Amino acid sequence: MQFPHAGRLALDDVSLAMPPGSVTVVVGASGSGKSTLLMCLAGLAQPTRGRVVHGTVDIYGLNDRQRAAWRLRTIGLVFQNSELVPELTLRDNIALPLELLGARRRDALKRADSLAEILDLKDASRRRPSEVSGGQAQRAAVGRALAHRPEVVLADEPTGALDTANRHAVIGLLDNLVRSESSTLVMVTHDEHTLPGHAQIVRLADGRIVEGAS
Ligand SMILES: Nc1ncnc2c1ncn2[C@@H]1O[C@H](COP(=O)(O)OP(=O)(O)OP(=O)(O)O)[C@@H](O)[C@H]1O
Ligand SMILES: [Mg+2]
Repeated sequence: MQFPHAGRLALDDVSLAMPPGSVTVVVGASGSGKSTLLMCLAGLAQPTRGRVVHGTVDIYGLNDRQRAAWRLRTIGLVFQNSELVPELTLRDNIALPLELLGARRRDALKRADSLAEILDLKDASRRRPSEVSGGQAQRAAVGRALAHRPEVVLADEPTGALDTANRHAVIGLLDNLVRSESSTLVMVTHDEHTLPGHAQIVRLADGRIVEGAS
């Protein structure tokens, strides 16, 4: 993966398989390519060479509209910096993917409220992202990623803004929720000690896999 104007490859010779229902944890120093890998998997950054295949679908073989539809349906993405919609309350943010997929608003909000409860967001869920703490926004971003029960959940440092107790809670929660829906989870994190025991670990250094599947 080569970014325009970048001096070197952000990802190089990366070959990975994430079987359905598996948990993969991506670790590595800042700048090693973790977010780039997730963006490639999410259909948001086309690799300069190579393919990303989901089931039988080569996702960069799809046109932009098809890929956007695939992403909405298939992927739940927790961005490194939450990226909530600022005008919407946390519960409306969580409900958003379901509404975009055509669910009735009442049903979408019901799901959002149940996730908000699990994520300990009940008091904050009627507030907008600018009116809540970083940790609350991050938990709402986790809720939004899970709302539509996506087949694949990609989470980029979903606990970066959380204290230790909340960090353990959110990682446990993500792992549990993903397991109860049999989703595939790929998560970037800096704290390896909070990882679920059954996770496959992939360590990146300078865009290459130096530990884990290849
Ligand atoms: N849009 C871009 N244009 C040019 N270079 C980029 C772009 N995005 C990332 N890079 C470069 O690609 C490399 C990998 O970046 P990436 O964001 O994937 O790292 P990361 O492992 O997620 O780091 P961090 O832990 O700080 O989030 C870095 O050298 C970065 O500077
Ligand atoms: Mg990153």
